[in-house]
Amino acid sequence: MSLESLPVSGVGIGLRRSMVKELQQKDHPVADFLEVAPENWMNLGGRRGVQFEWFAERYPFMCHGLSLSIGSLEPLDREFLLSLKLFLRRFNILHYSEHLSYCSGDGGHLYDLIPLPFTDEAIKHVAERVRQVQDILEQKISVENVSYYTSVDNKLSEAEFIRAVVEESDCGLLLDVNNIYVNSINHRYDAESFLKGMPAERVTYFHVAGHYDEADDLKIDTHGSAVKDPVWELLAQAYQHCGIKPTLLERDFNIPPLDEVLAESNIIRQVQRRHNSSSRVAA
Ligand SMILES: [Fe+2]
Repeated sequence: MSLESLPVSGVGIGLRRSMVKELQQKDHPVADFLEVAPENWMNLGGRRGVQFEWFAERYPFMCHGLSLSIGSLEPLDREFLLSLKLFLRRFNILHYSEHLSYCSGDGGHLYDLIPLPFTDEAIKHVAERVRQVQDILEQKISVENVSYYTSVDNKLSEAEFIRAVVEESDCGLLLDVNNIYVNSINHRYDAESFLKGMPAERVTYFHVAGHYDEADDLKIDTHGSAVKDPVWELLAQAYQHCGIKPTLLERDFNIPPLDEVLAESNIIRQVQRRHNSSSRVAA
């Protein structure tokens, strides 16, 4: 199966509450799409609800979930999924994605995204849950490769695990290029080889983000600083392998003034332009 291309291209930024006022003062759209965590916007009435409507009338939207806990052993939250479905339909949101991890257990929610073990059993479990989510939402979703800092008793490589999950779920892949870089350093693998092992035809869009250099051999995925050079280089390689797909700049902490976010998102545009002109030369 090849997932149909999303009806959006180019460059996106995350819509954060701190940016709302500044964005509303712009006289034209400043990004090709916006991304939100549905949990932060879907049940809002009043002023926040009106704000979201204002944005939804002007920008294409992607939703990137935080709380579904797709890999958990707990039952799926059907009530949440049905509310989410209404939200996606009501605002004509283009796509919904979640992290390939879990964040709940023992009846409660944890704050961190916990990686799944890279085993056949986990593939079967999570693929079945992704299919259930797709059935409830009546649309394909994407799962995102996450950063992780401990290695459990893995039987498969991370790349084998991700490939098998998206194949068995028949879902899309949101490829986070910063997470590939961070994991490649922390777990000592070659980022470019990993990238080449990803199923290009299933990649729906990309994330790039900043990380913290704790040490030469330890990088922390923080989303709290500017994207670093090795990640920009890896994004260029991702375009070579997958073609240009919509690409989102993730910034969740230390959010700078809007113009700084937009200047950084313009670097994505430059990487896309460079890819297009080198492809034309090669042709
Ligand atoms: Fe991401």
